[in-house]
Amino acid sequence: MALDAYYTLGRSGLRVSRLSLGTMTFGTEWGWGSDEDTARQMFNTYVDAGGNFVDTADLYTNGTSELWTGKFIGERNLRDRMVIATKFTYNADPSNPNAGGNGRKNIMRAVEGSLKRLGTDYIDLYFLHTWDSITPVEEVMRTLDDLVRSGKVRYIGLSDTPAWYAARAQTLAEWRGYEPISALQLEYSLVERNIEKEFVPLGVELGMGVMVWSPLAGGLLSGKYRPSEGVLNAEGRLDVMKDSQNTAFQKFSDRNWKIVAELEAVAKELGRSMAQIAVNWTATRPGVGSVIVGATKLSQLEDNLKALDFELPTELSDRLETVGRPDPQFPYSFFEAGHQAMIHGAKPVGLKPSGYIPNVLIDAPAAGVS
Ligand SMILES: NC(=O)c1ccc[n+]([C@@H]2O[C@H](COP(=O)([O-])OP(=O)(O)OC[C@H]3O[C@@H](n4cnc5c(N)ncnc54)[C@H](OP(=O)(O)O)[C@@H]3O)[C@@H](O)[C@H]2O)c1
Repeated sequence: MALDAYYTLGRSGLRVSRLSLGTMTFGTEWGWGSDEDTARQMFNTYVDAGGNFVDTADLYTNGTSELWTGKFIGERNLRDRMVIATKFTYNADPSNPNAGGNGRKNIMRAVEGSLKRLGTDYIDLYFLHTWDSITPVEEVMRTLDDLVRSGKVRYIGLSDTPAWYAARAQTLAEWRGYEPISALQLEYSLVERNIEKEFVPLGVELGMGVMVWSPLAGGLLSGKYRPSEGVLNAEGRLDVMKDSQNTAFQKFSDRNWKIVAELEAVAKELGRSMAQIAVNWTATRPGVGSVIVGATKLSQLEDNLKALDFELPTELSDRLETVGRPDPQFPYSFFEAGHQAMIHGAKPVGLKPSGYIPNVLIDAPAAGVS
């Protein structure tokens, strides 16, 4: 489970560590990041532990994240070793509508900026950052395919899109011979589990590795917030951003405090930090290919990088699963065993004798191989 065990991402041949290093905290521009020396130490610590997968975006800290990521890689001459993921979508010049979005003009503009800041001539994994609700999927896929053919990009991914859009994009790629999507990047943690119903089976079925962000819910699950001690607020991102409209920062709720309390109890029983338990649980859930860990301090990263050094006993993992289990939701409730029995009759179906290729929709695959 160490960082220097590499797994292929989705159906691609790209080998990546199961923990990816998130660099959204590289830079102080947003009020909750780290300075250059701390960011460098975190990068070096991650690489020295065997990690090869860094995640950035043109949006992050107004470009500083990409700049420093490229700089740190260059300082150690690691370009060949590292897998760099970056993203386009967000607007770089509000007076220019074509300096944002997922149209061809913006993608071609954005890729040049990212290559320059990263100080490289190719991006390993290029993500559409967020669905812009306008651009036809045909235009996005043709443009991304062009970038792969031109040699500027090696693999492509989609982040934060509707499932139907990702399914259509991948089907289009298959039928038109475009570069397929190798990864889906989405939020997932003990408190944010919406992707389980639609995106995880989608990724497994269509060969897109699920790469998840905010495994600690932006810090909520790190142990700095402890309802048991009445500590419901602490210095950090969630406090700085508490008035933001972005739902990714709005994590304080009665439901979530119950999950934090159970996490604290499980962590105590196992003698591990809450952050390690939360990251371990997320990384070992069905269909999860890679987890992007984030930190603002070296000590936090050191803590989080130990998340895969132990096995979470099933009983404890189940307790965490139960406390945060989302309410049944239509139509997914119709696909669960009870309702499916009304379709298939009394005899169980879908379970094939060993040696057969597993039916991925019914038997979730072992974690780490999505
Ligand atoms: N595709 C997307 O839309 C998207 C969106 C968000 C993020 N991402 C990617 O995912 C990466 C990770 O996301 P994230 O930063 O939100 O992850 P996260 O693990 O949920 O949160 C990380 C934050 O939690 C706190 N923390 C982490 N470890 C801790 C520890 N051991 N003890 C105490 N506090 C700890 C730190 O914040 P404080 O010190 O400020 O409390 C740290 O910055 C990002 O860097 C980025 O690459 C992608």
